[in-house]
Amino acid sequence: MIRRRSNRSPFDLSRPVAAAALASLTAGIAGAEGTVAPERVDALRNLTWRAFEREFTVERTLMESVRLMRIGKTEIEANPDGIFLGGPALETMRLVGALSRERMADPGSLAHRRGLDTYRGIMASAMGYVWLVSGDGSRRAELAAGRDWVRLNLRAASLGLDLHPVSQALQEFPEMAAMFEEAHARLGVGAGMRLQMLGRVGYGSAVPPSPRWPLETRIRMT
Ligand SMILES: Cc1cc2nc3c(=O)[nH]c(=O)nc-3n(C[C@H](O)[C@H](O)[C@H](O)COP(=O)(O)O)c2cc1C
Repeated sequence: MIRRRSNRSPFDLSRPVAAAALASLTAGIAGAEGTVAPERVDALRNLTWRAFEREFTVERTLMESVRLMRIGKTEIEANPDGIFLGGPALETMRLVGALSRERMADPGSLAHRRGLDTYRGIMASAMGYVWLVSGDGSRRAELAAGRDWVRLNLRAASLGLDLHPVSQALQEFPEMAAMFEEAHARLGVGAGMRLQMLGRVGYGSAVPPSPRWPLETRIRMT
C-alpha cells in the first residue's frame, strides 16, 4: 500500500515486462486482461497517443483538464487534487511565465506543445498493457472495476511493476467515438461488454505519492 502509485514517468524501453509477470499481475482479478505481445503493444501505443492528442486538442476537453491543473507547489498545496504539475522543470517554466493555465489553453504555446511532446514519449514507452472488462456499463460494474483497478495497482506494486491508467480512448465524447470503438475492437471486448480501464505497464522511475487532502478535511466527526 505504501509503494502503490499511478506512475506517469516514461518507462524503461530496455526492460521488457515478462509474460510471467503480466500473468501474475492479472491472476485472479475478474475481468482483468493484458498483453506484452510486441505487435499489440505497438498498436496500443499508437492508439493511446492518438487519443491523448485528440483530448488535448479539442478545445472543451482540453479546457476540462486545464481547469483542473494545479501549477506549482503553492497551488498544489492549496488544492491537493486534480492534475498536479510540479517539480523543478515545471516550476521554472511557471516562474518565467511559460507555464500557466492560459498558456496551456493555447495550442500554439510552448507549454501546450511541451505537454504534447511529453505525453508522446510517455505513451511510446508502454511495455505492456492491462485492461478491465465488465459485463455491462452499470454503476455497480463501474464500482467493481474501481476496486479491481486498485487490486491491480497493489499487485503491480508488489511485483515491482509500474502502472499508469491511460483513459483517453475510453472517453465518451463525439470526437473520441471512433477511437473508443477501436479500443473495444482491438482489445476484443465483445458486444454488450464494457471496457472499464486501460493502463500501460513497465518499469518507470520512482515517483512520489499523489497529493492528498489531509484526512481531517475529508472526515467530519459528529
Ligand atoms: C476512472 C478513472 C480514470 C483515470 N484515468 C487516468 C488517466 O488516464 N491518466 C492519469 O494520469 N490518471 C488517471 N486517473 C487518476 C489516477 O488513477 C489516480 O486516481 C490519481 O492519480 C490519484 O491516485 P494515485 O495515488 O494512484 O496517484 C483516473 C482515475 C479514475 C478514477
